[in-house]
Amino acid sequence: MDFKNKVVLITGGSSGIGKQTAIEFARHGSTIILVARRRNKLEEVEQELKKFDVTTLICECDISKKEQVEIMSKEVIQKFNSVDILVNNAGFAIYGSVSDLSIDEIQSQMETNYFGMMYCVKKFLPLMIQKKSGHIVNVASVAASFGLPGIASYCASKFAMLGFSEGLKHELSGTGVGITVVSPIMVKTEFFEHPSFEKMPKYSPTSLNPTTVAKAILKAANSSRLEIIVPSVVRGAVWMKHTFPYFINPILGKSFKKQLDYTKNN
Ligand SMILES: NC(=O)c1ccc[n+]([C@@H]2O[C@H](COP(=O)([O-])OP(=O)(O)OC[C@H]3O[C@@H](n4cnc5c(N)ncnc54)[C@H](OP(=O)(O)O)[C@@H]3O)[C@@H](O)[C@H]2O)c1
Repeated sequence: MDFKNKVVLITGGSSGIGKQTAIEFARHGSTIILVARRRNKLEEVEQELKKFDVTTLICECDISKKEQVEIMSKEVIQKFNSVDILVNNAGFAIYGSVSDLSIDEIQSQMETNYFGMMYCVKKFLPLMIQKKSGHIVNVASVAASFGLPGIASYCASKFAMLGFSEGLKHELSGTGVGITVVSPIMVKTEFFEHPSFEKMPKYSPTSLNPTTVAKAILKAANSSRLEIIVPSVVRGAVWMKHTFPYFINPILGKSFKKQLDYTKNN
């Protein structure tokens, strides 16, 4: 797909991976719709996109609220008729053990990361199917393949996203509409600014730059694959986990549990 003049909607377009994805699509001449809760941040990104001379629209919307997604989608469809590429990127994590997190904290991650994605898919997919074209890119995480202590509820939301996408991909066979999940390792963004990560080392030496992930998202929008793991070398670890779970799970579990115990005791 040539991205020029294609209508691209990015949830979580106000910072990090979403913002960078908007810049990369704008570089290719796409029309950009930025969706997030913080209007001032969306306006800043829109300002940055001006140099690419592309059409933009910002929509202040909390995607975890069905009614807000309804209003946002009405505005988008009224202005652009449909969306060619839907990037479901908005998401967050709250760090902490299941015993320490409240039900509301656990639920809120599912509401944004999984249900928010589903609300957007339900609004824009029928039009893609009607047009027999389009692509959905769901931004998950390697946490969609590993259940890890300290982020169990975040992992659950990303496992759900991957499972939903895999099932939907089969359903979409022959419709002209595609779906691909992008699963990065740690990325240097505001993601770790959540107070629950206060005692965690923010980034590791292997942490990715948001541009790397944004480029993978553009690749995903033209891909027939179910999942693109970033960096691709980590595919090996996912394969190991599925093939030798009894070997890999205890190693990962122990190392993440050590971190969780450290943050609890310090
Ligand atoms: N950073 C990492 O290490 C990493 C690794 C793997 C996967 N990911 C995934 O990458 C995606 C983007 O995260 P990021 O790293 O770019 O973090 P980020 O800089 O914190 O960006 C998160 C974006 O999601 C938006 N958002 C959060 N809740 C929302 C809601 N209820 N409704 C609408 N927008 C919402 C935020 O905007 P507002 O606050 O303005 O609403 C923001 O634009 C997430 O899905 C995350 O799970 C991140």
